[in-house]
Amino acid sequence: MNTSLTPPNGGKVRRFATEQELHPALAGQIAKLANEAIAARGAFHFALAGGGSPRPLYKLLASEYREAIPWEKVHVYWGDERYVPHDHPDSNCRMARETLLNHVPVPESQIYPMPTDPADPNEAAEQYEQTLKKATGEETPRLDLILLGLGGDAHTASLFPGSEAINEKTRLVVAAEGPFEPKQRITLTAPLINKARAVYILAFGESKAEAVTNTFKSEHNPLQYPTHALQLEDGEIIWWLDDAVFKI
Ligand code: 6PG
Repeated sequence: MNTSLTPPNGGKVRRFATEQELHPALAGQIAKLANEAIAARGAFHFALAGGGSPRPLYKLLASEYREAIPWEKVHVYWGDERYVPHDHPDSNCRMARETLLNHVPVPESQIYPMPTDPADPNEAAEQYEQTLKKATGEETPRLDLILLGLGGDAHTASLFPGSEAINEKTRLVVAAEGPFEPKQRITLTAPLINKARAVYILAFGESKAEAVTNTFKSEHNPLQYPTHALQLEDGEIIWWLDDAVFKI
């Protein structure tokens, strides 16, 4: 079992024997961050990850941890979105509503789904950039927490290996394409992610072992390992992992 792995760019690791131990620890940490942000600035600006990994976490936040967070002070964004209607089975917005947002009292005016109705996804990306700026009141929004997943190919959000979106230096949100359906995506970019106070990358299970191991072992190579492009200006990246991702 390879345990001498270290994350890129000075990130930290929180490692758990099983995902069943990981999820409640992560939920508790998110509740802690939320209360600290609300105490300090009156709001918690939280970008959700899509895909399947966050489902157990979102269900925990909506149940055992529901009373631990002042949801009326939370503002919810997405790190990326599949370019499908929000009621589509593949929609990250739909997944988050079903597992979390339909069960907690976040005001609808503080939930900001990525738009997927403009014919041109670039227009949707530009709209979302304006939404972020308006919602945070900041020209370059500094979110309190961005939750990210990790694909088996080491992609994160919808920054896929080989994508020019990884090298974006100015736009905060861009349209991007993935290698599998739904291929058309909208995604936050490194310039926005790197402004965050905290980025948590959630990966568990043997299916992620190769992506985690290669990401940690490889020299700096953002085009191949997009999380290598993440280095927060003033904040911390924590990888939330279980033992299974080290079994390679
Ligand atoms: C998405 C996600 C994506 C996800 C990874 C991991 O839209 O699919 O935002 O970045 O986090 O693909 O997906 P799983 O959690 O389903 O393995």
